[in-house]
Amino acid sequence: MKHLISMRDLSADKTIQLLKLAESLEKDPSQIDLSRRVMAAVFYEASTRTRMSFESAMKRLGGEVIAMVGTSGTSVEKGETLADTAKVMARYSDIIVIRHPMEGAARYVSEQVDVPVVNAGDGANQHPTQSLLDLYTIQKSQGTLKGLKLALVGDLKYGRTVHSLAYALAPFKPEFHFVSPKSLGMPPHILSDLRKMNIQFKETKKLDKIVSDIDIMYVTRIQRERFPDREEYEKVKNAYIITADLLENAKDNLKVMHPLPRVNEITTDVDSTKYAYYFDQAENGVYMRQAILATLLGEAK
Ligand code: CP
Repeated sequence: MKHLISMRDLSADKTIQLLKLAESLEKDPSQIDLSRRVMAAVFYEASTRTRMSFESAMKRLGGEVIAMVGTSGTSVEKGETLADTAKVMARYSDIIVIRHPMEGAARYVSEQVDVPVVNAGDGANQHPTQSLLDLYTIQKSQGTLKGLKLALVGDLKYGRTVHSLAYALAPFKPEFHFVSPKSLGMPPHILSDLRKMNIQFKETKKLDKIVSDIDIMYVTRIQRERFPDREEYEKVKNAYIITADLLENAKDNLKVMHPLPRVNEITTDVDSTKYAYYFDQAENGVYMRQAILATLLGEAK
């Protein structure tokens, strides 16, 4: 495993290794020492959790971080290319974590440099480290990854986290309900891949009918910034609002997850229910990203 660009590149065995290492690091981070290693966080797009949990992960393992937080004040403003920026960052660091609005940007960077590259989100395409922390969170909350019923809710067209998660869960034979407005359905190429893998899924607009049947409700934000047409966003922006009342008939083991940030799609009265799990999910990002950094830097035992 030289880079982490897409969940499609990761075998089920490697995924399970990362899950085990994250669990072990949550219990005892002192087993890995990344001192004298430098991570470059190269973020062309906004982020709170991904960048800061990577920074926390690196620092808690003794490593150092250099960061580009948006392009303002950098030489991107003078016209520097992505390839040149990446080549220089590779001279300054041992691993590059990159978020970029262009689909395929992380893979492109991985072809330009000799250090490991981690895709921290490329446009509406993939967000594999989010999916790995989501798997870790699902396993912790349900005790297994196998045979679960999941509703992926909201913006399944532009939401890169759900694209990666569909592939990440596939080896564990999930049953998916894809819940979205018609215009924001899961992309056809992902549905086609899932059919080839014999993964069961249903597409629906209605969430209330399936709440009592699912183990995980994975809610996503409608990705306003990716809509070419503002009017189309206005039509769907309030499509799903999860309230405590909606969860009244949920199974005891149901957990509501969300990659965050949320806008209005989960009301704050859900936060105090036993179903809310999105803040635990964000915390799990540190343990999984520690496992990813240690593995790519060749320090995983
Ligand atoms: N989940 C996630 O990617 O959050 P940020 O955009 O804050 O990094």
